[in-house]
Amino acid sequence: MSNVHVMDHPLIQHKLTLIRDKETGVKEFRELVEEVALLMAYEVYRDLPLKETEVETPVAKAACHVIAGKKLGIIPILRAGLGMVDGMTRLIPSAKVGHIGLYRDPDTLEPVEYYCKLPSDIHERDLIVVDPMLATGGSASAAIRFLKQRGARSIKMVCLIAAPEGIARLKQDHDDIDIFVAAVDEKLNSHGYIVPGLGDAGDRLFGTK
Ligand code: PRP
Ligand code: URA
Repeated sequence: MSNVHVMDHPLIQHKLTLIRDKETGVKEFRELVEEVALLMAYEVYRDLPLKETEVETPVAKAACHVIAGKKLGIIPILRAGLGMVDGMTRLIPSAKVGHIGLYRDPDTLEPVEYYCKLPSDIHERDLIVVDPMLATGGSASAAIRFLKQRGARSIKMVCLIAAPEGIARLKQDHDDIDIFVAAVDEKLNSHGYIVPGLGDAGDRLFGTK
């Protein structure tokens, strides 16, 4: 069963408010998306396995723990997912990054794949798919389907804002996926945009409007 984790930490909520604001410019928008991704990573990585080790402090030997070499893969859905990659990899720089290029056909709202480059060993990795927006859920569902077809076995989905429709679609298509979001908004409008949302994430990240 998939679980939806809504991250209501005050820092995440504060920064998400600034991200939503239409007066926030490209530079600040990009920095804030990266910061929220980093804050979300803290919770997404909560179940990383540890192994015991020992270090010598200036005072004595200490029995400690380090992360047990888990193989991770961060998978941004292009374009807007790119904005979350640096935040997700900052704490675990050894994570590999794979890219899936999808755009939504503006008429049908169906995702179209135009690029895919993944680590060769995705079947051995815990994959974290990142995209700021989960609207109809079509893009995320297709990306996860591609990953499963290519052998992925462990996948989490991380996004900033989800519509109820997107969450329902992901649960229906992939009920084994945990979903991490900073907010679940009210609804989709007739163009498939999240209301109130933040507008077009790709355009706001890359200044293409
Ligand atoms: C946006 C967003 C998601 C998708 C969400 O990308 O970043 O990938 O829409 O919508 P869905 O849940 O209805 O599929 P878009 O297609 O605008 O492409 P872009 O990132 O290149 O701007
Ligand atoms: N994609 C976006 O960038 N924003 C939305 O609200 C929905 C899809």
